[in-house]
Amino acid sequence: MTSHSPIQRIAHPLFEQYQLTVDIKRDDLLHPVISGNKWRKLKYNIKHLQQHNYQGIVSFGGGYSNHIHALAYAGHYYGFATVGVIRGEAHYANNYSLQCAQKWGMELKFIDRKSYRQKTEASFLEQLQQQYRNYFIVPEGGSNQLALPGVAEVCQELNQQTNYDTLITPVGSAGTLAGLITGDNNQHQLLGIAVLKQGEYLVDDVKQLIPNTGTDNNWQILTQYHCGGYAKFSQQDLAELKAFSHITGVPFEPIYSGKMILALLDLIKNNTFAPGHHIVLLHTGGLQGLAGLAEQNKLKADEWPLPPGLQVL
Ligand SMILES: Cc1ncc(COP(=O)(O)O)c(C=O)c1O
Repeated sequence: MTSHSPIQRIAHPLFEQYQLTVDIKRDDLLHPVISGNKWRKLKYNIKHLQQHNYQGIVSFGGGYSNHIHALAYAGHYYGFATVGVIRGEAHYANNYSLQCAQKWGMELKFIDRKSYRQKTEASFLEQLQQQYRNYFIVPEGGSNQLALPGVAEVCQELNQQTNYDTLITPVGSAGTLAGLITGDNNQHQLLGIAVLKQGEYLVDDVKQLIPNTGTDNNWQILTQYHCGGYAKFSQQDLAELKAFSHITGVPFEPIYSGKMILALLDLIKNNTFAPGHHIVLLHTGGLQGLAGLAEQNKLKADEWPLPPGLQVL
């Protein structure tokens, strides 16, 4: 598994008009399945499992979770057992993400939405631990302390790849932004784009992951670019994102990286960045999610193809 991703300059008429330089850190190219922030967040969790001889990892996710999909593959690849605690009904087991997960040996446990909300409560976790005694429990999205050093490596790579002013990432469970904050060490401006509604609480989630981070740090989370909520988007959002992919040649999906792109375009049009500003976008992967969106008829599979390496079940 490679730990180093390329950086790519992207061109767009808007960047030219506002005299901006925009690069994209292609973490989606790290691996077809354990792509983007999935690999970054899992890397030291897997090392921890190996060092402590755990039998496997139990983790949590929704029915189409990128994290669950990647974790299942990691277990298959590195030879440890995986259990996915999935929010929702057993019929999700037939979707693309969870079929892949099962093919790679993951055991799936479906729980109703109300029980799922207890996923961080001590009594719930204790019960789960009793059931899976020699397993290591990793929270939803893989966002724990061990996720941070892997994500921080993005900043170390970037420092060798380019000079820049602002780094932008989508934010879901906060581990990625928290890792970037630790890795960046106040060198650049960091912008997180919340992909879900009422994402103001994510600031506290970041601070909880990095308790000694003061408010003087150079990071913020923008909460107005959720496009209606988690995994929600309009046909106009889709059309704008498709056009951006077409112009730049970079594939995106509308749940995470796509919302970052729509936010970027709006921020530029609102004169947020002075001429000469150099932006880096972190492509956090998650392109497997396109299959689930096509299955739910939220977009057309032929217009949003899966990247090479993901097609085969
Ligand atoms: C593709 C993708 N991008 C971005 C994120 C957001 O990262 P985080 O949950 O660490 O905030 C996720 C969720 O983990 C994701 O699956």
